Amino acid sequence: MKGIILAGGAGTRLYPISKIYSKQLTLIYDKPLIYFPLSILMLGGIKEILIISNDETIPFYKKLFGDGSEIGLQINYAVQPAPNGIAESFIIGSGFVGKDSVTLILGDNIFYGKLDFMYNAIKNNTGATVFGYRVNDPERYGIVEFDENGKVLSIEEKPNEPKSNFAVPGLYVYNNDVVEISKNLKPSPRGELEITDVNIEYMKRGQLRVEKIGRGVAWLDTGTPESLLQASNFFGTIEDRQGLKVACIEEIAYYMDFINEKQFKDVIYKMPKCNYRAYLEQVLNNK
Ligand code: G1P
Repeated sequence: MKGIILAGGAGTRLYPISKIYSKQLTLIYDKPLIYFPLSILMLGGIKEILIISNDETIPFYKKLFGDGSEIGLQINYAVQPAPNGIAESFIIGSGFVGKDSVTLILGDNIFYGKLDFMYNAIKNNTGATVFGYRVNDPERYGIVEFDENGKVLSIEEKPNEPKSNFAVPGLYVYNNDVVEISKNLKPSPRGELEITDVNIEYMKRGQLRVEKIGRGVAWLDTGTPESLLQASNFFGTIEDRQGLKVACIEEIAYYMDFINEKQFKDVIYKMPKCNYRAYLEQVLNNK
């Protein structure tokens, strides 16, 4: 299983910071936003990852992660020259994906809670697995409609009259067919290759599984200054209360055995003296 993080986009709602880099580098409390989707892939057991972004931002990601080997990953980079849609990821990334299956996560999607169902989907997927999460503002998302037995009846992108309140979050698990499906898509009226059209194609083939996400899981939005502040407060509160960090990629790499104790120490000793390092030293001493 390969992993793709799509971390581009204009981010105009975050201007002026979006003049410099894409929003996935903004801080959520104590770490860049992209650490959150990256940790989901890592916890799903994925080590080979492609980060897709715009030309200007890729050098920042390279500075942040290098080739990923310090934390036991293989991180590759690719440019999406213009925001032509989420499904374009599989065309840009077709060489990287090769004959494998692939999980795509959007670089601005934050999930928090008991997420074993997601990690299991990543491990056990056959056709396509996506999720359904109840939201208040369904017109902003891809929306899935179920019948009373939980069977999927329809999926629509940003419908004016949503048939349900279940949005499809930005985590998509696909078999290798997704590459061919994406290559055959036509742009939507807004000029994008829509991920919803990929899901509709899997639905037509009878290979789409949609798992409802229950209460107790947070899927947070990060598109505006207000939502960034809310997310920062949310994670600041939790980390402070528990003394445990969320989405701490070095800790996850060690916990998942992507790196051994010596490699973990090497990572820690390269860091400046700071709270983040002190936390990792504590992890090291407590294992
Ligand atoms: C995209 C997808 C939409 C999905 C959403 C999740 O929306 O098109 O189906 O529900 O991500 O974040 P966009 O980012 O284009 O608004």
